[in-house]
Amino acid sequence: MKPVKVGLLGLGTVGTGVVRIVEGNQQDLNSQVGSPIVIEKIAVRSTDKVRSVEIDAAKLTIDPWEVIRDPEIDVIVEVMGGIDQTKEYILEALERGKHVVTANKDLMALHGSELLAKAQEKQCDVFYEASVAGGIPIIRTLIEGFSSDRIVKIMGIVNGTTNYILTKMSQEGASYEDVLKEAQDLGYAESDPTSDVEGLDAARKMAILGTLGFRTNVELDDVTVQGISSVTKEDITYARKLGYEMKLLGIATSSNEHITISVQPTMIKQNHPLASVNGVFNAVYVHGEAVGETMFYGAGAGEMPTATSIVADLVAVVKNLKLGVNGLKAIVPYKTKKLQSTDQ
Ligand code: NAP
Ligand code: HSE
Repeated sequence: MKPVKVGLLGLGTVGTGVVRIVEGNQQDLNSQVGSPIVIEKIAVRSTDKVRSVEIDAAKLTIDPWEVIRDPEIDVIVEVMGGIDQTKEYILEALERGKHVVTANKDLMALHGSELLAKAQEKQCDVFYEASVAGGIPIIRTLIEGFSSDRIVKIMGIVNGTTNYILTKMSQEGASYEDVLKEAQDLGYAESDPTSDVEGLDAARKMAILGTLGFRTNVELDDVTVQGISSVTKEDITYARKLGYEMKLLGIATSSNEHITISVQPTMIKQNHPLASVNGVFNAVYVHGEAVGETMFYGAGAGEMPTATSIVADLVAVVKNLKLGVNGLKAIVPYKTKKLQSTDQ
């Protein structure tokens, strides 16, 4: 059986988890797809860095183009982050007929429709399950699980870093700065944590969820955003005394031909299921006209949960490769509704 060769862009928190799962679960993955999955080349910023997984040094390169242009590579797994340059890498990979798996919500929220259109043109897959809510398979759920329903509301705690910070401030009285540093050390935060604490990361994820859930194009500019940097311990203590928990909550609603999406610190009644989502955990509440209320819960960031989603996408790509089909192409959205800014 010919191995399926993977080019990895990035070997940081998520990339390391991908190597661990692909190597650790090799036999099981192999039996699911009928071929060995081999990580052939890896692009990193520094080849001298000490890594926490054993890597053949000959596989490392500091030039992502070397990975993209390698004719032996079938699938690109992009876990290095970045927007404009990374978009060029992915477009070129697709142009060359390579399938793509990415964890990059920044890129997908801004340029997802262009990348998905290129993928469709080239009959390739672009899968991005890890881009929202880490290990929770929410993207597949929205595309496939709810294809029969009309979703009217999505609420989400979709940023692990801020939920970790708010939980520790609330339950342990910890300082904002100390817990942010902890979240960075644990690999939860973005390389520039401003996007976590100012709500932009959650806004990007809500734009992706809104696009898929409401089957329309949600632009990032349509999301009203406020982060947690101005939330104080006193705000949290006061909320708790009144029977609420403070959470950074994304809320997307679709009604009367209009959609509104916002991300902001929100006081949630302590008896609401979202109020007990603590630490790095995320949860996405989805209300469909037919199904009613549903909620999905799990680790929203970190090495192994995020890598689980990436490798599941990789398995899906390889199964499609074997069958000679592309999957989840319905994720190319169509416009159905007008967006209405929440601050109007
Ligand atoms: P990270 O720990 O900072 O790792 C980034 C990796 O990419 C590093 O290995 C770095 O190389 C490499 N890299 C960066 N720029 C490069 C360049 N120009 N050329 C070659 N290599 C480059 O980041 P991460 O936390 O794994 O996140 C990666 C992506 O996944 C981001 O898009 C992030 O938003 C997304 N994501 C992260 C999580 C999470 O929990 N961390 C969860 C979901 C999604 P060096 O190792 O040499 O520095
Ligand atoms: N920085 C992100 C978070 C990583 O904390 O949720 C997962 O997307």
